[in-house]
Amino acid sequence: MREDAIGVFDSGVGGLTVAREIMNQLPNEKIVYFGDTARVPYGSKSKDTIISFSRQIARFLQTKNVKAIVIACNTASAFALETLKKECDVPVIDVIAPGARAAANATKNNKIGIIGTIGTVNSGIYSQYLREKKPEALVYAKACPLFVPLVEENWLYDSVTIEIAERYLSELKGYGVDSLVLGCTHYPLLRHTIQKVMGEQVELVNPAYETALTLKRVLEEKELNQLEWKDNHHEFYVSDGAEQFRSFANSILPCNVVETNVVNIEMYDRG
Ligand code: DGL
Repeated sequence: MREDAIGVFDSGVGGLTVAREIMNQLPNEKIVYFGDTARVPYGSKSKDTIISFSRQIARFLQTKNVKAIVIACNTASAFALETLKKECDVPVIDVIAPGARAAANATKNNKIGIIGTIGTVNSGIYSQYLREKKPEALVYAKACPLFVPLVEENWLYDSVTIEIAERYLSELKGYGVDSLVLGCTHYPLLRHTIQKVMGEQVELVNPAYETALTLKRVLEEKELNQLEWKDNHHEFYVSDGAEQFRSFANSILPCNVVETNVVNIEMYDRG
């Protein structure tokens, strides 16, 4: 079991920001990554749809004998965590609980901003976690749906991206938040632009760091952590556009992605 891989999934390239953090913090571990590039974005889809997509992906990852699954997508974490926890026989880790924990630790003035997809923001799940962890905090959430296609298009520093960010973020700036949770795994790729718009005094909270720490703790507790590096190659799968994904992955990961394979994910509709 220790030698098995960790399954990581997202609607597209966003979860690579979490995979990157896992590679940094758990360098002995092998990752099997799935990006649902044919069905991105998840953020505007219903809870039932996201649960059904997440189930298919979890089934696919389990055919790869993963020892844990990381839902590297806030929308899927908000909607499908409970279902996957019930149905998978390996630990399932989400990005929202770690993100909320990091935000509660980061704020000094108790004004926390959350940005995410429509699904994540409307689920109210970050506010719910933060009410438990820091009842005195004021939480302001804003959906930024255009950020995901901008990232998938790799328009990370364009003037149009800055303009859209200014329009989305002006409200949160007005509330005087001192910390802003990047509550969508695509958003850390826009970090530079978001920081520029919010100002240097605002701390951007990327849940990926805390998520990798949580994964590390869970693997150690269950004695599932890989003790030494085995020259394993990470594996990458998508539901469409393998070459575009591969070149994007190579631009942000600390490893060389040699190949990406397309999977017919709907085949995994039944257990
Ligand atoms: N990266 C995902 C998230 O964290 C989903 C973005 C999308 O597909 O809309 O929510």
